[in-house]
Amino acid sequence: MKILAYERVEDPVLEQLNRAHDVRFFKNINPKTDPDFLQFLHQADGIIGLGLEVDKPLLDQAPHLKIISNVSVGYNNLPIDELTKRKIMATNTPGVLTDTVADLVFGLILSTARRIPELDRFVKAGKWVELVDSTYYGVDVHHKTLGIIGMGRIGSAIAQRAYAGFHMNIVYHSRTKKPQAEKDFSAVHLSLEELLSVSDFVCLITPLTKETERMIGKKEFARMKKSAIFINASRGQTIIEQDLIDALTEGTIAGAGLDVFEKEPIDPDNPLLRMDNVVTLPHMGSSTYETELHMSKLAAENLLAGLAGKKPKNLINPEVWENEQHEKG
Ligand code: DGY
Repeated sequence: MKILAYERVEDPVLEQLNRAHDVRFFKNINPKTDPDFLQFLHQADGIIGLGLEVDKPLLDQAPHLKIISNVSVGYNNLPIDELTKRKIMATNTPGVLTDTVADLVFGLILSTARRIPELDRFVKAGKWVELVDSTYYGVDVHHKTLGIIGMGRIGSAIAQRAYAGFHMNIVYHSRTKKPQAEKDFSAVHLSLEELLSVSDFVCLITPLTKETERMIGKKEFARMKKSAIFINASRGQTIIEQDLIDALTEGTIAGAGLDVFEKEPIDPDNPLLRMDNVVTLPHMGSSTYETELHMSKLAAENLLAGLAGKKPKNLINPEVWENEQHEKG
């Protein structure tokens, strides 16, 4: 089979795929114009990778494609309805990254509240020459209220850390109530408006969908406490980034910890990069050696199952597989 691998697929997994298949790995190329990519796409039976923006023109150039296996839990890069229409399976990698992302979100909460990167720069710049005064104090995390928007697997893992480790009060906003989280972490379900107004930390961890796109903007920042710290580990497009910049500039909220941005990689002239009360990361929520390898392995399992006519474990559009079984009789 011909397998097109794109961007982040870990080496041991590429080697394993290579042993039985014709694999081509593409990195740092423009998938709309790169001639080698487009030529291989034309023959590809499967695609495995991270964040390939798939649209109709790309699919038109992939007449043999049976499956796209994302090496990520998010799949906002895939037009699921269009893939289903074309009988192409789509898979993702839920579960294996949950704790790793939750750890990083906690890192963002702590580093923003306690100003860790800013103080690190202060010490390394040789500015620690006398007792540090209240200008450099942070704020407490423990016993504060954490508002989680999107109480799925990762949201629950964040809540668990906050509740058990930091004695925080947990409030959450989700499409559906989560009885398990209410039982395990005394989490309280609130409307978005209520959550924004009572939370000391507002943590956005919802998938990017039509419903969640640009869900946090000027109005939502205005509802938050002036002392609130906003954390985004979902996707850059779930917020209106200019409104966040304004809220931070005008003191509507106190700070932000961000793993994701409207444009990635971020533009060097983005004002967020010049704010001491903002901690930035290059979309690394799941990026530890162990977890990236797990994700690549799971994505490869999904891909190989699909190519072998078996049902992949993490199939997003099961209709494709079911219809195929039906047609086979
Ligand atoms: C995910 O798995 O969705 C991570 O955000 C990496 O894109």
